[in-house]
Amino acid sequence: MKILPSEITSYKNYLNRRKFIKSSVATGLALGASTNLYANHSSDQNIYANQLDENDRLNSFEEITTYNNFYEFGMGKTDPSENSGNFKPKPWSISLEGLINNPQVLDLEKLLQQVTVEDRVYRLRCVEAWSMVIPWQGFPLSELIKIADPLSSAKFIQFVTVFRPEEMPGQNKRLLPWPYVEGLRMDEAMHPLTILSTGLYGHELLNQSGAPLRLVVPWKYGFKSIKSISSIRFVDKQPEATWSMLAPSEYGFYSNVNNLVDHPRWSQGTERRIGEFKRRKTLMYNGYEEEVGYLYEGMDLRKYY
Ligand code: MTE
Repeated sequence: MKILPSEITSYKNYLNRRKFIKSSVATGLALGASTNLYANHSSDQNIYANQLDENDRLNSFEEITTYNNFYEFGMGKTDPSENSGNFKPKPWSISLEGLINNPQVLDLEKLLQQVTVEDRVYRLRCVEAWSMVIPWQGFPLSELIKIADPLSSAKFIQFVTVFRPEEMPGQNKRLLPWPYVEGLRMDEAMHPLTILSTGLYGHELLNQSGAPLRLVVPWKYGFKSIKSISSIRFVDKQPEATWSMLAPSEYGFYSNVNNLVDHPRWSQGTERRIGEFKRRKTLMYNGYEEEVGYLYEGMDLRKYY
């Protein structure tokens, strides 16, 4: 899907309106201190106060929507923006299944009337060692979990991407086992930083970004942030996840960003922020250690990578 330059200008206005930009810098969008970013949007300010430091700059709408991983539309970074024009994200429903009191098929429009959509600026760190900073709109996954009302036996959640080979050309090839699946432990899924995103820069998600609903788990490698979700299953055992099924020695179930545990074929110590030349040091848990470190206390992170 192509974006007109006039539309991009309106995203900048959007940013100004929402006061994402504290001080304007000659070289484009910049974030100042982040402490008041969520002032009007979240009651949970303490959690978000130090999400970003002054070195983080928002990636542009164009960068975020033309450099993607979404194998349902091909393996190249521009394939998703070039090949997703026939995908129809409306109308959309999500089925809630498994160990819950309220199994149902939810219409997305109706669901959005029941949840609180907020602005969340998060870093996204891909396992391939590139990263971006993205202003998402979304709602806490915990709100959907409350609607599902899990049984105490539900320990994990599996997410499933829609299977529509007629609209997703990559699904006609054996690039991955389809549909794409991912999973979280229940406490990770309930964590306030975990969101289901419906938009970015104030614009509904474009197809390449995972329209109309995708997961964003900012302390994990990007492949955990599954796109175009059509089912959510509550299960009692660690569920299958596409990349850890495919190459278990390279991609673990947890996949927390960890600068100390390298991928068998490359270092995870540094990353390239899209739009920058100099590599940056990768931060433990992608910089969200204070918020999420307790989830993994006592776990051997070399074993549970
Ligand atoms: N979800 C589906 N269904 N299919 C995919 O191929 N790629 C993952 C993740 N979600 C992928 C997916 C990977 S590897 C990354 S890094 C992120 O999406 C990229 O998200 P972005 O394109 O919005 O940056």
